Amino acid sequence: MGGFCQSSLVSTRYHKKREPFMKKLFPCQYLLLFLHILSLFCIQRGSCHSWDGVLITQVDYQGLQAVKHGLEDGGGLLRSWNDTGLDACSGAWIGIKCARGKVIAIQLPWKGLGGYISDKIGGLTALRRLSLHDNAIGGQIPASLGLLRDLRGVYLFNNRFSGAIPPNIGNCFLLQTLDLSNNLLTGSVPFSIANSTRLYRLNLSYNNLTGSIPEGLTGLPSLTFLLLQHNDLSGSIPDTWGGIGDNKSSYQLQTLNFDHNSLSGTIPISLGRLGMLQELDLSDNQLNGSIPEEIGSLSSLQALDLSGNSINGRFPTSLCNLSSLVQLNLEGNYIEDQIPEAIDGLKNLSFLSFSRNLIDGPIPTVIGNIHSLAHLDLSENNLTGAIPDTVENLTSLTYFNVSNNNLSGSVPLILAEKFDPSSFAGNLQLCGYVASAPCPSLHPGTRKLNKKELIVTVAGIVFLFLLLLCTALLSWLFGRRAKSSGKSSADASSGKKTVEDKKEGGGGKLVILDGHLLFTADDLLCATAEIMGKSSFGTVYKATLEDGSQVAVKRLKEKLAKNPKEFEAELTVLGKIQHQNLLALRAYYMGPKGEKLLVFDFMPKGSLAAFLHARGPAANSIAWPTRMNIAMGIARGLHHLHTNAGIIHGNLTSSNTLLDEQTDPKISEYGLSSLMVSDANSDVIATAGAHGYRAPELAKIKKADAKTDVYSLGMIILELVTGKPPGETINGMELRQWVASMSEEEWSNEVFDLELMKDSAVTQEKLVETLKLALRCINSSPVERPEVEQILQQLEEIEPGIAASVAAAEETKDAAPESTDAN
Ligand SMILES: *[C@@H]1O[C@H](CO)[C@@H](O)[C@H](O)[C@H]1NC(C)=O
Ligand SMILES: *[C@@H]1O[C@H](CO)[C@@H](O)[C@H](O)[C@H]1NC(C)=O
Ligand SMILES: *[C@@H]1O[C@H](CO)[C@@H](O)[C@H](O)[C@H]1NC(C)=O
Ligand SMILES: *[C@@H]1O[C@H](CO)[C@@H](O)[C@H](O)[C@H]1NC(C)=O
Ligand SMILES: *[C@@H]1O[C@H](CO)[C@@H](O)[C@H](O)[C@H]1NC(C)=O
Ligand SMILES: *[C@@H]1O[C@H](CO)[C@@H](O)[C@H](O)[C@H]1NC(C)=O
Ligand SMILES: *[C@@H]1O[C@H](CO)[C@@H](O)[C@H](O)[C@H]1NC(C)=O
Ligand SMILES: *[C@@H]1O[C@H](CO)[C@@H](O)[C@H](O)[C@H]1NC(C)=O
Repeated sequence: MGGFCQSSLVSTRYHKKREPFMKKLFPCQYLLLFLHILSLFCIQRGSCHSWDGVLITQVDYQGLQAVKHGLEDGGGLLRSWNDTGLDACSGAWIGIKCARGKVIAIQLPWKGLGGYISDKIGGLTALRRLSLHDNAIGGQIPASLGLLRDLRGVYLFNNRFSGAIPPNIGNCFLLQTLDLSNNLLTGSVPFSIANSTRLYRLNLSYNNLTGSIPEGLTGLPSLTFLLLQHNDLSGSIPDTWGGIGDNKSSYQLQTLNFDHNSLSGTIPISLGRLGMLQELDLSDNQLNGSIPEEIGSLSSLQALDLSGNSINGRFPTSLCNLSSLVQLNLEGNYIEDQIPEAIDGLKNLSFLSFSRNLIDGPIPTVIGNIHSLAHLDLSENNLTGAIPDTVENLTSLTYFNVSNNNLSGSVPLILAEKFDPSSFAGNLQLCGYVASAPCPSLHPGTRKLNKKELIVTVAGIVFLFLLLLCTALLSWLFGRRAKSSGKSSADASSGKKTVEDKKEGGGGKLVILDGHLLFTADDLLCATAEIMGKSSFGTVYKATLEDGSQVAVKRLKEKLAKNPKEFEAELTVLGKIQHQNLLALRAYYMGPKGEKLLVFDFMPKGSLAAFLHARGPAANSIAWPTRMNIAMGIARGLHHLHTNAGIIHGNLTSSNTLLDEQTDPKISEYGLSSLMVSDANSDVIATAGAHGYRAPELAKIKKADAKTDVYSLGMIILELVTGKPPGETINGMELRQWVASMSEEEWSNEVFDLELMKDSAVTQEKLVETLKLALRCINSSPVERPEVEQILQQLEEIEPGIAASVAAAEETKDAAPESTDAN
C-alpha cells in the first residue's frame, strides 16, 4: 500500500528533491528547493499568477473536472472552473491554488456544496490541503486520498460523509491535520493512521465510530490534539501513552477528549507521562477502578473531567498538586472516602464538582482558601459535620450545592442569603437556610454541646440581647400611642418587633409613590428595624418587611418638618423624581401623632464614605474604573437634579451618596430641605461645612446654589482620587489646602491614592487630569467653577470606555421591562 504515493501518475521529480535535507544537494536541487519555498510563500499570499502563469497539467485538469462533476453546486459557484482549463492555475478558478501547473490546494469551505468527492481526486498528486468543511457533502471519504503523498491537511468537518474512514489514509505520511469531525462516519478508527508520524491534530469527534482506540496513536510524538469524543468507541483505553522509554517531554499531547463513548476498563496509568496535557476529558464512559495517583503528575493540567463513569476508590491526594487546574469534575461516580484536607493545593480551581459520589467525612475548612472557586457542587454524598464558615471567604462563588448529604448545624448567613434553599435541602440536621428549618432555640436539653455549637449558642444569646435592645428602642420611637393602649408587643423568639396600628381611621396615612412597592402601613410598622445612621433631618433605619424585602426608612425630626399640607405637597414633587443615580422616594407615612416616615430603596453597600474610608485591612482595593463610574454617576444624578428637577442639593457628601449592588452611586438626602422649616436648613449647611464639603462663600450668603453643589462634587472627586476624607487634616492643613500646597510634580508621590498608583487600569495623565478637574470645581471663586454638565463631559473624556459601558447598561435596563411584560 505504501507505494501508492509514488504512483506512476506522478512526475516524481518534485518529490525526490524533498527527501535529502540531510544529504548534500545538487545545484539543480537548490533551484527546486527555491521554487518549493516560493510556492509555500504563494500559498500564504493567496495568489501566484504573475509567476505561475503555467498551464495546468493535463492530469490535474482532469482531476479537477471530475471533482467538479461530483460536487453539487447549487449557487453556480464552480462556473469559473470552465472547460478550457487555461486559467485554472492563474487564480481564476475559485478555491484552487497551484504550483508549477499542479494543484496544491482546494479550499471551498462554507460554500453550500453538496454531492460527493470524486475518487479521481487521487489524480491531483501534488495536493497538500483539502478544505471543504462546513458544506453538505456526502458519500464516502475517497480512498484515493491515500495516493496523495504530499497531503498535509484534510478539513472535511461539518459535512455529511458516511461509511468508514479509508485505512489507506495512513499512507499519507506527511499528514498533520485530519479533521473529519461532525459527520456520519461509521466503522473503526483505522490503525494505519498511526503511520502518519507528523500528525498534529486528529479530530474524529461527533461521528458514529465503533471499535477501540488504536494503540499506535499513543506513541505519536507530535500529536497535540486528539479528539474522539461523541462516538461509540468501546474497549479499554490503551496504556502506552508517551511511548516507551523515559523521554516524556517529546510528547506534545495537550488535549485528549474521549468523552461520550462506551469505553471501559480503568484509567491508564501511562497518561501521567503526558507532561504537556492541559485537558483530559474521559467523562460519560463506563470506566471503573480508581483514579491513578499518576494523574497528579500532570503539572500542566487545566481541566480534568471524569464525570459519569463508575470510578471508585479514594480521591488520590496527589491530585491536590495540580496547582494549574481550573476545572475538576468527578460527579456521578462511586468515589469514597473523604475530601482531602490538602484540597487547597488546587489554587487556581474555579469549578469543582464531587456531586453524586459516596464521599463522607466533613467539608474541609481549607476549602475556603481556594479563592478562585466559582462553582462548588458537593450534593448527593454522605458528608457530615457543619458547613465551614470559611466558605464565606469564597467571594467569587456563584454556584454552591450541598444538598442531600448528612450535614448539620447552621448554614453561614452569607450563604443562606446568596443561594437557593434547594442548595441546602436534604440535610436533616442542617438549619437556618429557610424559614421552615429554623436553627434550634436555646433549649439544648441535656445534650452535651460541642465547641462549635457553644459558639453558635453564645452568638445567639448576644444577638437576642441586641434584638431586645432594638425592640425597646423601637417601642419608644414608633410606639408611644401603641404603648399607651397596651398594644405593643415584642415577640423575642421570632426576632420581630411589632407595633400595631389598628385604628385605620384615626391612625396614620401611608402613601405609596411607586406602584412596585406592595406593603401596608401595618407592614411598615411591623417591620424589623435597625438603626443605620443619623443625619440633621432625622434617623435612618434598615427595615425588613414580612416578605423579607428591605427598605430604608427615614424618621424625620417632627418638630422641624413643615405643616402636613405643605409637607405632602413637597413630597408629591419629590416622589416624581426618577433617575438611576438618585435614591428614589418610594412611600411616606404620616402618623397620627405627627410622626413622619420616608421610605426609600435600601442600598446594601452603604455609603460611599464607608466604602472608601471604613474598609477592613484585608478588603480589596477599589479599582480606578469603579471610582470613575462613581464620579460620573454622581455627576449625572446632580445634573438631573439641577436641570430636570430644579433642586439644589445643598448637602452633597460622600456619606449622602449610597452604593447599590453594582456599586453604582445613588445620591440621597436631596430635596429634604424643602420639607423642613428654614431653621433646620441652616443646621444642615453648618454640618456640611464641618465635613469639608461646604463652599467657602456659604459662610456669608448662607444659601446653597448650583455652584456650591459643584464645590461639594469637586470634594467628592478629590476624595476618590486621593482616598482621603475631606475632613482629615494632613500636616495641619485641610485636604483641599494640602493638595493646593503641593506642586504637580509632587502629586504622584504624595497626593494620589497609593492603590491607584498600583492600578494598571489608570495612567498618570488620567489621574492628573481628574485631579485638575476636581481642583477647578473647588475653586474658591464660584464663577471659576465648571457647570455639572461640563464636569460630566470631562470625566467622560478622561474615561470614554466607562461612559460607554454605562450607556450600554442603561439601554439593556430600558429594554428589560418590555420582555417581562411579554412573558
Ligand atoms: C471561464 O470563466 C471565467 C470566469 O467566470 C470567464 O472570465 C472566462 O471567460 C471563461 N472562459 C471561457 C472560455 O468560458
Ligand atoms: C473537533 O471537532 C469538534 C466538532 O466539529 C469541534 O467542536 C472542536 O472544536 C474540534 N476541536 C479541535 C481541537 O479541532
Ligand atoms: C501502515 O500501517 C499499517 C497498519 O498499522 C501497517 O500494516 C503498514 O505496514 C504501515 N505502512 C507503512 C508503510 O509503514
Ligand atoms: C504531589 O503529592 C504527593 C502526595 O500528596 C506528594 O508526596 C508529592 O511530593 C507531591 N509532588 C509535588 C511535585 O508537589
Ligand atoms: C491560573 O489561572 C490564570 C487564568 O485563569 C492563569 O493566568 C494563571 O497562570 C494560572 N496559574 C497557574 C499556577 O496555573
Ligand atoms: C453515611 O455514613 C454513615 C456513617 O458514617 C453510614 O452509616 C451510612 O450508611 C452512610 N450512608 C450512605 C448512603 O452511604
Ligand atoms: C448521618 O450520620 C449519622 C452519624 O454519622 C449516621 O448515624 C446516620 O446514619 C447518617 N444518616 C444518613 C442518612 O446517612
Ligand atoms: C442542588 O442539587 C440538587 C440535587 O442534589 C438539585 O435537585 C437542586 O436543584 C440543586 N440546587 C441548585 C440551586 O442547583
